[in-house]
Amino acid sequence: MANRKDKYIVLTGATGFLGAFLLAGLLDRGYQVIALGRSSTMKLAERLSNLVTWLNIGPRQRLLPIEVDFTKKHFGLDDKAYSQLCANTGKIIHCASDTRFAERNRKQVMESNISNLASILEFAEDSQAEHFYYISTAYAVGVCEGICLETPVSLENNKFTNVYEESKAQAEDIITKGCNKIAMPLSILRPSIVYGHSKTGRALKFNALYYGVKSLSYIKDIFVKDIVEHGGTKSIKWGFNINNDGTLYLPLTVYLPENGAVNLISVDYFVEATIRIMEQGDAGIYNITCDNPPNILTISDYIEKFLGIRGIKTICKPFDNPPNPAEELFGRFFEIYRPYLSDKRIFDRSHTKSVVNDLSTPPLTYDIFDRCMSYAVACDWGKIANFPK
Ligand SMILES: NC(=O)c1ccc[n+]([C@@H]2O[C@H](COP(=O)([O-])OP(=O)(O)OC[C@H]3O[C@@H](n4cnc5c(N)ncnc54)[C@H](OP(=O)(O)O)[C@@H]3O)[C@@H](O)[C@H]2O)c1
Repeated sequence: MANRKDKYIVLTGATGFLGAFLLAGLLDRGYQVIALGRSSTMKLAERLSNLVTWLNIGPRQRLLPIEVDFTKKHFGLDDKAYSQLCANTGKIIHCASDTRFAERNRKQVMESNISNLASILEFAEDSQAEHFYYISTAYAVGVCEGICLETPVSLENNKFTNVYEESKAQAEDIITKGCNKIAMPLSILRPSIVYGHSKTGRALKFNALYYGVKSLSYIKDIFVKDIVEHGGTKSIKWGFNINNDGTLYLPLTVYLPENGAVNLISVDYFVEATIRIMEQGDAGIYNITCDNPPNILTISDYIEKFLGIRGIKTICKPFDNPPNPAEELFGRFFEIYRPYLSDKRIFDRSHTKSVVNDLSTPPLTYDIFDRCMSYAVACDWGKIANFPK
């Protein structure tokens, strides 16, 4: 059996956005990491090797990929491999999650985020891990207004925006009960919405904030093409035109239920806060969120500047008139993210600050926004050939 100092951090979800950056951060700090994951069109080892190259992580010899199936007892490993894994386990960071919001994916989301916890909690017990860290979400608190404390979620009479939030709240509850039963220290980390690296612009997945920009970029292309290549009779009828400075005038009104904020954090802040909590924090719940989240108006100014569009505005009451084609398209693309754009929740960070008082997420300036979005465009939103899958 390995000495405690030789033990590995066992990380799930390392092939995902947050997990990959966390993996890079842990390896950079000299930790050795066992990544539990699955193959896709490629074997797990190859997927992680591509990621390691992409993220330019140096010491890859301290990374041990193990292919697992969370739906199976002992992750589907044979007795020898499972007991070796248990013996080498120090801390566990459970970051894997099905992050899709749409109700049509309910069955898979619940399977990944809830049913799979049985084998993961059994593994925590079998390995006698030092500490269990669960990467949850700030939105596990459900639909509410005002201050959200770093306290357990209430499942009773709670409303959730989507199946993902619901599953994360249930998972927090199951993991808390499971860890209590085996007296295992547990920390639940609740990030808000994560965008790319504030200094390099890098990211691995382009949803949430990116999705809005990507959708508007497609919509812009449709109408620019219509005007430039087809005379734009239809576009002009709707008041769309190309301004003298080359920008597109696109009168696009976005309905939001409230005039709220968008709680965004950068992935580098997420990684730094998580590692510091792991190194210095006690058990408990941590909101990894932004104290001064940008208002949607700021974000919409950034988007206009980045895409070369004018005419976007937000209103807090449903449309009186039928939406124009751009509004209709954008509404369809963006429906699932709408509740996160006008957020009245204020996430208390007292516990997080007690550990990382000197650390807060960098304010989302236009420079950072531009860096992150330029990276996304350069990667064709993750579609370029060599982008890690
Ligand atoms: N991104 C955000 O803005 C954000 C904000 C708050 C909280 N979080 C939380 O942070 C964690 C990571 O999110 P993310 O954005 O990095 O997600 P992501 O990019 O969608 O990655 C999800 C990861 O989970 C793995 N996974 C999902 N279902 C699995 C299953 N059934 N079996 C094995 N592995 C499975 C995926 O493996 P494959 O690659 O094999 O599919 C991938 O490694 C999640 O717990 C999420 O709830 C994320």
